[in-house]
Amino acid sequence: MLVHLGRIVNHKMLGKYALPAFNTSDLEMTQGIVRAAKKLKAPVIIQTSVGALEYAGIEQLVGIIKTEAHESPTPIALHQDHCHDFKLIKKLIDLGYSSVMLDASHLSYKDNLKLTKAVVAYAHKRGVWVQAELGRILGNEDWQTVKSGEDLMTDPDQAAKFVAETRIDTLAVAVGSLHGIPVDPRIKKVLSTLKEHVDLKRLKAIRAKVKIPLVMHGASGVPDAQIRVAIKMGVAVFNIDTDLRVAFNKALRDNIKKYPQVYDPRKLLKPATDALQAMAEKKIKLMGGSGKAKGFK
Ligand code: 13P
Repeated sequence: MLVHLGRIVNHKMLGKYALPAFNTSDLEMTQGIVRAAKKLKAPVIIQTSVGALEYAGIEQLVGIIKTEAHESPTPIALHQDHCHDFKLIKKLIDLGYSSVMLDASHLSYKDNLKLTKAVVAYAHKRGVWVQAELGRILGNEDWQTVKSGEDLMTDPDQAAKFVAETRIDTLAVAVGSLHGIPVDPRIKKVLSTLKEHVDLKRLKAIRAKVKIPLVMHGASGVPDAQIRVAIKMGVAVFNIDTDLRVAFNKALRDNIKKYPQVYDPRKLLKPATDALQAMAEKKIKLMGGSGKAKGFK
């Protein structure tokens, strides 16, 4: 069933378990995620990026997710990942997203605050949650926008002030995780001091001052042990995209190599979807989400 994100992300879960927010961009990814959730009786968040909406088409991708979610016995919430565009956010709210991320982290603090407040006012009037980002969670495409000496991490005091002023519902924190796999040597250079290890001290300091659920982006590369500690510290949602893609890709490539005579895409895609499902199950179990959909109405 498709539910509001606020029904599956709440204060009762904080410190105990967390939910994966899985990215999807097509039918296969969506089915792999939904099947994993169903098998483990787990609530999950499915999210779209702007790139995924451009790839599949907005109505097309939203249609796939909603159809899969409606047919699923487990609660599934639809969330928009990083979005700079207020106009697109309005459109997605009209299409039934229950949560949207306004990513204005590339702007100055003052401008981030102003835009976030405007989006919150609009979204809350329509019952929709807003996630914002403070600090900067980088990926391969972001290396060139980093100014020298720029502090990329979330500042706990600033986060507390930002949350109080904007009244956002969830906060994406920059505590050391990265989007994707850093392949570009330039990003590796920029980030040479920023290993993909969570700064748990910083996370603890943020948690002490910020009471809303925290979201960790770039969670694919974060070691399992750190994910477990981060859950205890109140991270409620972990964004996972890369590990799903890698699992899918590996199975697909292996199959193309193994069966060069097969030309039916379904025969090649099905094992890849199964591999993605297995990875989604692994993440749900790691975050303690198995069985949490039991009795959910
Ligand atoms: P990964 O690239 O680590 O899977 O993170 C995805 C993400 O944070 C999307 O917002």
